[in-house]
Amino acid sequence: MATKKMWGGRFEGKNSDVTERLSMSVHYDSRLYRQDIKGSKVHAEMLKDMGILTHDEFKSIVSGLDTVLKEIESGDFNFRSDYEDIHMNIEARLTELIGDAGRKLHTARSRNDQVAVDTRLYIREETEKIESLLKKFILRLADIAEQQRETVMAGYTHMQIAQPVRLSQHLLAHAWALSRDLKRFETFRNMHNLCPLGVGALAGVNYVNNRKFLAEHLGFAGVTPNSMDTVADRDYIADILYASSLLGVHLSRICEELVLWSTYEFNYIRLSDQVTTGSSIMPQKKNPDLAELIRGKSGRLTGNLVSLLTVMKGLPLTYNRDMQEDKEPLFDTVDTVLLCLEGMIEMFKDIVFNKERMSETLRGNFSTATDIADYLVQKGVPFRTSHEIVGSIVGYCEKEKRNFFELNLEELRKFSNAFDEDVLINLDPAGSTERKQSEGGTSLSSVLNQIESIREIVV
Ligand code: ARG
Repeated sequence: MATKKMWGGRFEGKNSDVTERLSMSVHYDSRLYRQDIKGSKVHAEMLKDMGILTHDEFKSIVSGLDTVLKEIESGDFNFRSDYEDIHMNIEARLTELIGDAGRKLHTARSRNDQVAVDTRLYIREETEKIESLLKKFILRLADIAEQQRETVMAGYTHMQIAQPVRLSQHLLAHAWALSRDLKRFETFRNMHNLCPLGVGALAGVNYVNNRKFLAEHLGFAGVTPNSMDTVADRDYIADILYASSLLGVHLSRICEELVLWSTYEFNYIRLSDQVTTGSSIMPQKKNPDLAELIRGKSGRLTGNLVSLLTVMKGLPLTYNRDMQEDKEPLFDTVDTVLLCLEGMIEMFKDIVFNKERMSETLRGNFSTATDIADYLVQKGVPFRTSHEIVGSIVGYCEKEKRNFFELNLEELRKFSNAFDEDVLINLDPAGSTERKQSEGGTSLSSVLNQIESIREIVV
């Protein structure tokens, strides 16, 4: 389509088709229409206060923008790729609707500060949505942790059974990681809540504008301090991509456990029919697809971060058109994170834990070996020695195909005279969790404290 470009004054020739196709972004940045219109309204109000627009011009701009908004929302707006992006599409339509007043709107503004303000507003809103879903998910984990406070399971290192833990301690471990994600989103949202509008293309504008007014009316805490940095900066996008990538890593790790725990071999959990799928050939299958998909989606979150960092790394100050490549990763990440969080909440809505299987796993192994070593320490045996004694008991059990729990006192005494009647209590996995007295451990009081503090942080 060959219309005169808004920037076309100095051009005689027309852009080739491929230039237009490479330039256009309206097919994805149209998503910023609300923010663009909001920013333009406040900008117009400032221009009116500066005497650049008459009161009537201002009024007609505002009502023209409202019409554009309605057209977009009702699907009647004709997005034109020859106008490149959402900013020029809106301005062109506005001018078509209200005439010359529309042509004054871009006074004291550049697309460089315009796109920055739109994107910052978008990120602020979307981050709030992410935070609220994240809170919901963390609270759900805390609720399950409370319900399951008496459930004891194996804690693992190297995927090998290590020591008994409460299921709540395990779930809270994930909740704490997610609470750091929450904090990260909040911190970045606050840190970047500065208004870029009013810096112009890169150097400032030739008018005494009122950036404070713009900031206040757009809900920013202040204004960005340097015009060049303002239009060259995409940290506010990189940060949300990073926060999302790390959140993605955390969700992926949870999902990995859900996949594992729902296997026949583990059988620790049952996921509901709502979040599992069948096989087109194997009638018996119930696959944890949702968990696998979320685990998989974390890959694209990291990809989006790397993509933006790579775009930015060689760019000289200030704005370069490469930076238009910031939006697709951003939008994709926001959509993906929101979708994944929704999926996590759904999976944990009806998840069923198999307590019997969890304790069976504990008893079949040597999960309380460390407790026995500590028991001997209490009886005066140095830890290194007690470690060796218990190690040889485990070796003996393995060779004799005996279960740790079947050994009687007499047999134990063959390994050390320090064993007494009371050792048998120390073999019990459930009791083991209560012997963890250190702060942040897996004892009941620690778990309950954690639930309380995580609820306080999240609410
Ligand atoms: N669509 C452009 C982007 O997203 C808007 C800024 C264009 N600025 C310019 N100097 N060409 O980056």
